[in-house]
Amino acid sequence: MTLEYSHPLWDNFQQDLSSVEDLPQLTEVKDKYLSRQRGELSLEMRKLGSLPAEERPQAGQLLNRLKKAVTKALDQRQRELKEGQTERRLKEETFDVSLPGFAPSLGSVHPIRRALREMEEIFVRMGFSVLVGPEIETDYYNFEALNIPKGHPAREDQDTLYLSENLLLRTHTSPVQIRTMEKHQPPLRIVVPGRVYRRDSVDATHSPMFHQVEGLVVDEGISMADLKGTLEMFFKELFSTETRVRLRPSYFPFVEPGAEVDISCIFCAGKGCRVCKKSGWIEILGAGMVHPRVFSMVGYDSERYTGFAWGMGIDRIAILKYQVSDMRYFFENDTRFLSQF
Ligand code: DAH
Repeated sequence: MTLEYSHPLWDNFQQDLSSVEDLPQLTEVKDKYLSRQRGELSLEMRKLGSLPAEERPQAGQLLNRLKKAVTKALDQRQRELKEGQTERRLKEETFDVSLPGFAPSLGSVHPIRRALREMEEIFVRMGFSVLVGPEIETDYYNFEALNIPKGHPAREDQDTLYLSENLLLRTHTSPVQIRTMEKHQPPLRIVVPGRVYRRDSVDATHSPMFHQVEGLVVDEGISMADLKGTLEMFFKELFSTETRVRLRPSYFPFVEPGAEVDISCIFCAGKGCRVCKKSGWIEILGAGMVHPRVFSMVGYDSERYTGFAWGMGIDRIAILKYQVSDMRYFFENDTRFLSQF
């Protein structure tokens, strides 16, 4: 900036201004010239009074023009600095949107739930409905109606967790058979997944809480062959088409006849290995033909209807399916384990 006249103050000011690089420095220069107390221009103004009267107007005008010019130059520099600041900020703060980001770690479906879903899907494809029932049960549904009266030795087999004399944590999913038959007439084709509880101490294959899938089919003309065919079809779908099923006579109070069901070992295809303890077979569930006494408890005509039922452990199946060495992993909620599924 130039003025049409020269003044030592203006020259000094321009020099000072040219070396200003930021806003604090600009404030310093502003103070140096315009501060009311010490500003060089203000001091000059004050000197006007001591000039001869005829020189005063011209000198006054000159100083006023000078002050305007200084103010204007300062304002302009301030605008420039502010703009520069914004530009610098924009430059510094831009970030590369094309850089790869950090993917948040996602949760995964719990292995028990995953196994259960797969099992449910197979049964649903076979025409089963999925039902659930309460985990807190009465003595009647958990035992009595399943042909396990008080004093029956089978009550001792299932170390029951009682909440009161009549209420307990269900020891199996079988009570939902009764609840369903009370409400619905045959034909029935249901599976019932859920938690069950027993007074067991924790180890690699035991937990006081575990999971079962109950199955129940009732209709006219249902036979043991239907039971075997249904379970064989299920395990071929769940494991492999090579899987075979075998029934061994067994006893459960709510079925007659009762059976333990084994599948051919899914690891050695029946040849014998560590998992099946060289037998070639893995015990997988309990099953049988529904006992006529159970039918009479729910008012079904056992002359007309027959049915089969089973109860299988989901945890055990998940252990086999995902080759997990210890059941405790399922319930410890260690994400290093869970995130593998
Ligand atoms: N409720 C039995 C248990 O928990 C398993 C079972 C066996 C269920 C035979 C059944 C069955 O429906 O028919 O040990």
